Amino acid sequence: MALRGCFVTGTDTGAGKTIVAAALCAAMAAAGERVAAFKPVVTGVAEPSGDSRWPPDHQLLAAVTGARAHDVCARTFAPAVSPHLAAELAGVQIDLGALVAAAHRAARGADMLVVEGVGGLLVPLNAEHSVRDLAVALGLPLVIAARPGLGTINHTLLTIEAARTAGLDVRAAVLTPWPRRPSVMQRSNRDTIAHLGSVIVATIPRVDDVDGLAGAGAALPWTSWIADTA
Ligand SMILES: Nc1ncnc2c1ncn2[C@@H]1O[C@H](COP(=O)(O)OP(=O)(O)O)[C@@H](O)[C@H]1O
Ligand SMILES: [Mg+2]
Repeated sequence: MALRGCFVTGTDTGAGKTIVAAALCAAMAAAGERVAAFKPVVTGVAEPSGDSRWPPDHQLLAAVTGARAHDVCARTFAPAVSPHLAAELAGVQIDLGALVAAAHRAARGADMLVVEGVGGLLVPLNAEHSVRDLAVALGLPLVIAARPGLGTINHTLLTIEAARTAGLDVRAAVLTPWPRRPSVMQRSNRDTIAHLGSVIVATIPRVDDVDGLAGAGAALPWTSWIADTA
C-alpha cells in the first residue's frame, strides 16, 4: 500500500530534521489529522545531545503523535555514530526491507506518515544501502531541513541534486531556526537556494519547547508537501 506523507532529511546531522519533523507532526495533529511518525534508526542514545531541552528524536516524535517511542523507532544504538557502524559495533544487521516494513507498521491506522531520516541522504545504513535508498523505497516526497547560515547553499543544493538523481520528489527546503531579524546573508541564502535549486524554501522560527512546535509547523504549507503529486 502506498504511503502518504513526507520524508524529512537534512543537509547533515544536527541540521534540524527532528525539529522540522516534529513541527509538521504537531501541526498535522492540531489540524485533526491522524499522523504517525517513523524514525528508522536512532544512534547516540547513550550520549545525550548538548541541547537538553529536547528528548531523543523518537521520544519527541512519539510525544507529538501520541505514540510510544518504541513504535516510532525500534532500532536504537548507544554510540553516536553512523547507523552502519553502530550496527556493526553491536554485531547486528540493518535491513532495508525490515525498515520499510517497520515504516508501514508505524503508519497503520494513520492518515499520514512523517519519516525523519538519519543524518543526510547518503548516510549508510549498511554496506549496500543508504538513507536515500530508504526514502526511495518508501516513495515519499522529500523535505530538506537546512541551516540558515554560511555553508547552507552548497549543502542544500548538493542534497537536492543527490535526491533528484535518485528520482526523489523534493517538495521543499526548510531553513531552521530562522531568526526574527534575518541577516542579508540569510535572506540571500533563502532566495539563492530557491532560485538555483528550483525549490520552495520555507523557514521556521526558533521553538522553545514542545508546546511551540504546532504553531511553528502550522505556518508551513505542509498540505502541498504530502499531496500525491507536486
Ligand atoms: N526551529 C528551531 N528551534 C529551536 N532549536 C532549533 C531549531 N532548529 C534547530 N534547532 C537546534 O538545532 C539542534 C539540532 O536540531 P535537530 O532537529 O535535532 O537536528 P537533526 O534531527 O537534523 O539532527 C536542536 O537541538 C536545536 O538546538
Ligand atoms: Mg534528529
